[in-house]
Amino acid sequence: MIRLSGLSKRYGSFTAVDNIDLDVPRGELFGFLGPNGAGKTTTLRMIAGILRPSAGRIEIAGIDIVKDPRAAKAKLGFIPDRPFIYEKLTGAEFLRFVAGLYEQSGAQVEHRARELLALFDLEEWRDELVESYSHGMRQKLIISSAFVHRPEVIVVDEPMVGLDPKAAKILKDLFREYTRRGHTIMMSTHTLEVAQSLCDRIGIIQAGKIRACGTMDELRQDAEAGATGLEHIFLKLTGENAARELVEVLDA
Ligand SMILES: Nc1ncnc2c1ncn2[C@@H]1O[C@H](COP(=O)(O)OP(=O)(O)OP(=O)(O)O)[C@@H](O)[C@H]1O
Ligand SMILES: [Mg+2]
Repeated sequence: MIRLSGLSKRYGSFTAVDNIDLDVPRGELFGFLGPNGAGKTTTLRMIAGILRPSAGRIEIAGIDIVKDPRAAKAKLGFIPDRPFIYEKLTGAEFLRFVAGLYEQSGAQVEHRARELLALFDLEEWRDELVESYSHGMRQKLIISSAFVHRPEVIVVDEPMVGLDPKAAKILKDLFREYTRRGHTIMMSTHTLEVAQSLCDRIGIIQAGKIRACGTMDELRQDAEAGATGLEHIFLKLTGENAARELVEVLDA
């Protein structure tokens, strides 16, 4: 459902994403991991059609997002890491507005919006302006907006940030159930426990390149012998001694 071939993004002479190949099949929950600045957001924004690739191809359900952005975006929901949200709309109006962007309206949209707001404990706030929402409430509304038009593919950039434990649990259940029903989700996260327990496959990106990709079992084989948990594997693949080395410098 998501196919990246030879995907690169350069900012001037700096290469943020470097010749990535990746296939995420239908029904998969794919986790995208990597250190700060590795190129996760850049990759996800290219998949969502917000950033133009410098080289390579992106296909969503076989549709090239650069050649046919409208058709490809119609299949997509995107949850950005720094979402924009209209302060002067109510929660219910915002969901209606987003559905409208996807040319959907009517009883079905209203029903889904009600169900999503109820799921995230936002029912009582549905008719309040977004400007009165807390950080976590905004995040829950943004997440709801990616589901309200029931896209085949959802791309999410660090969705857990700011969510309380109950909302994080609901989100995990929602992602699992959505992919179980044949939809596809690609999510970036820094929460290794979430990636390990939730995702079917995990890709680790570092300095714009995919360093490892596969199921937890496959990643264990990729990392050196002895690496078992995802934290151990992640640190093995991306460099593990930075803090100790820093303390040694500070102590010297
Ligand atoms: N508009 C831009 N202009 C120049 N460089 C950029 C731009 N956007 C991102 N970069 C650079 O591209 C690299 C990848 O950034 P990106 O935001 O994709 O990382 P990330 O993996 O999402 O990191 P984080 O975990 O911190 O969110 C970084 O070195 C960043 O400085
Ligand atoms: Mg990022």
